[in-house]
Amino acid sequence: MTVPSLLLAVEAAEPDLAGGSSVPILLLVLALGGFAVAYLLVGPGKRKGPKRYGDIPLAQRPYHSDAELEGPGLERAMSWGVAFAVFASLFLPLYWLIEPGRINDRVDEFYAQDVASGRAQYQNACASCHGVNLEGGSAPHPDASIETAWPVPALNNIVARYRDSAVVDDVREHIILTLRYGRSGTPMQAFSVGSGGALSDNQLEAITAYILSVQTGELPEAQAFVGQSRDTLFANNCARCHGENAEGYVGPQLINVFERYGWVPGDDESLEQAKAAVKQAIVNGRIVPGQAPMPSFALELTDDAIDRIVDHLASIQQTGGPAFAQIGGDPVPADDAGTDADAGTED
Ligand code: HEC
Ligand code: HEC
Repeated sequence: MTVPSLLLAVEAAEPDLAGGSSVPILLLVLALGGFAVAYLLVGPGKRKGPKRYGDIPLAQRPYHSDAELEGPGLERAMSWGVAFAVFASLFLPLYWLIEPGRINDRVDEFYAQDVASGRAQYQNACASCHGVNLEGGSAPHPDASIETAWPVPALNNIVARYRDSAVVDDVREHIILTLRYGRSGTPMQAFSVGSGGALSDNQLEAITAYILSVQTGELPEAQAFVGQSRDTLFANNCARCHGENAEGYVGPQLINVFERYGWVPGDDESLEQAKAAVKQAIVNGRIVPGQAPMPSFALELTDDAIDRIVDHLASIQQTGGPAFAQIGGDPVPADDAGTDADAGTED
């Protein structure tokens, strides 16, 4: 195989080589060329023996004398040995010192490239909802008949927001999964090619690297919404997922959620337990892979505001609904209406 046809074969097997990294091929060609020149200059047939043995075949010529082998010959061999030992003892430590730095520089370089391309992708695909500076915003409700906008979370504090999360341990993975699968039922669509989006896994990684590179670490302050009625609190924070009347939408219906947590009408102890379980869901949130998660409200609402929302739920509780939370609407039968866990408390 000639050198050009070898090159063609290599390029065909590895198309990338044709573009960016032709350096290895160049080195290969240079090395082969060097060997060819050396072969022509000092190869077999070109070697000339010392004049005095000119007529004796190479293999039969006498070797050096003992005196030469044990004197200058030995010294020469040992000098070469010392020279190689010195070289190795300098080269290996130097290599050991320099190589990690070189690798780190390359890693930094790749990272900087990722962040730069991630920024561009972000401005293209995400900034309209999450804000040019990742500060968050709002998007229209996917159900066109509902006018209330859907809040879009800020992403410049996502690491801090999930630092103490009970449901997310790896923010990076949380971001990638959210991007890959989206959150069905919410304005957050899926972006990965596999889920019908337009972005490759590499692009999702780059966007994530960009998001993680611009974290402010600042947390929002929990709002008390003093003076807002518990019904309004529910409407503003929960209705977009659980429905205006808690009938269920991307989250389960909450009309008999107390019953699901063991509430028996008339039994105060079971009422307190159910309230505590519901409150825990609101405070911690829950992750539902591939779905809209139940967000944690611990950073958004004060404890008191959350209590008032639990009271709102108590005021609309009925029995006889499904025994398990079902994503999407599943209203309780009408004839069970009227059992009120909150009898007597007015809003
Ligand atoms: C049409 C508006 C819209 C666009 C475009 C959009 N998002 Fe979202 N995104 C949302 C909404 C709304 C949510 C919150 C959904 C919810 O309530 O669960 C969200 C949630 C997220 C979350 C989870 C945040 C958290 O606190 O858990 C991440 C991460 C995210 N988006 C990243 C992105 C990235 C990156 C892009 C661009 C590739 C993008 N989004 C494009 C609207 C959008
Ligand atoms: C982004 C959508 C979303 C928002 C906003 C939201 N939830 Fe949820 N919620 C869900 C989803 C989805 C689930 C189901 C989680 C699961 O199955 O683990 C859920 C589950 C729950 C549960 C547990 C239900 C059960 O049967 O276990 C309660 C209680 C709850 N939400 C209350 C609330 C309240 C109160 C608010 C407002 C402060 C709220 N949610 C806001 C999506 C949401």
